[in-house]
Amino acid sequence: MMKKSHEEIKKAVREHYGQAVAHRSECCGGSSRVQLEEQGAGTDPLQGVASFGCGSPLAFANIAPGDTVLDLGAGAGPDLIMAARKVGPEGKAIGLDMTPEMIDACRRNLEAAGIENAEVRQGEMENMPVADAEVDWIISNCVINLSPDKEKVFAEAFRVLKPGGQMLVSDIVTVGLPQALRENMTAWVGCIAGAVEQDEYIRLAREAGFENVRVVDKYEYSESSLCALTEGCSCGCDDDKASPDMSHAGDLAGRIASVRLYARKRK
Ligand SMILES: C[S@@+](CC[C@H](N)C(=O)[O-])C[C@H]1O[C@@H](n2cnc3c(N)ncnc32)[C@H](O)[C@@H]1O
Repeated sequence: MMKKSHEEIKKAVREHYGQAVAHRSECCGGSSRVQLEEQGAGTDPLQGVASFGCGSPLAFANIAPGDTVLDLGAGAGPDLIMAARKVGPEGKAIGLDMTPEMIDACRRNLEAAGIENAEVRQGEMENMPVADAEVDWIISNCVINLSPDKEKVFAEAFRVLKPGGQMLVSDIVTVGLPQALRENMTAWVGCIAGAVEQDEYIRLAREAGFENVRVVDKYEYSESSLCALTEGCSCGCDDDKASPDMSHAGDLAGRIASVRLYARKRK
């Protein structure tokens, strides 16, 4: 584990994504298309909405009209907007994020998309501003890996779901990541250093009380597609300030994957 405090890690994550969303809007304007294409999840269905995700949670979530959906770390809102459309006027989509610049971008994007059944709440997923049993579904796209306190995130996710509620998260998992990289803050904010191994991810969800925890889809990054991940999280593989140190990329091939993980809260 890193020698930084939880608050130091969250501050670095907030600063990184605050800058990344401004930079992304200016230069990239799209998602990590390579991954989404290779996963067959479709590409960038929302023109102009910056995406920093690692796959498509909604492609694997059986969300129904009328549901209430919570998007953890909604960012600029790509999945939130699609979730709001899926649940329709009888349903509701709630985006949670801790980065003010992301929240501003998300609110602008909701308005531009004409979405009226979604709201954005500022807060941390380790202490969600969400009532007990408020939501039917939790989705999240490339966010939980960034938390220094994943036990708390899963405990909170369990608390806010209704009995019978479901969770589908897209996130990064790792295999035998070198310790030096685990302690690299740039790699942490780039969605790599904080990512745990798949078995650990499943254990964390089960220990929080979830059942039926399983990986329903997995994408292993090759050396070249790893760039798509860091681009997704950071915007620009050749931008030294924004990207993780990719001199490790050769060592990392086969050690990093994105998964779609399903879990359910007992009725
Ligand atoms: C990699 S981006 C993903 C954004 C969005 N899900 C997407 O697919 O474009 C991570 C997002 O999670 C937010 N985030 C990171 N840690 C968080 C935490 N502890 N609580 C709430 N939001 C957090 C960041 O502010 C950022 O917007």
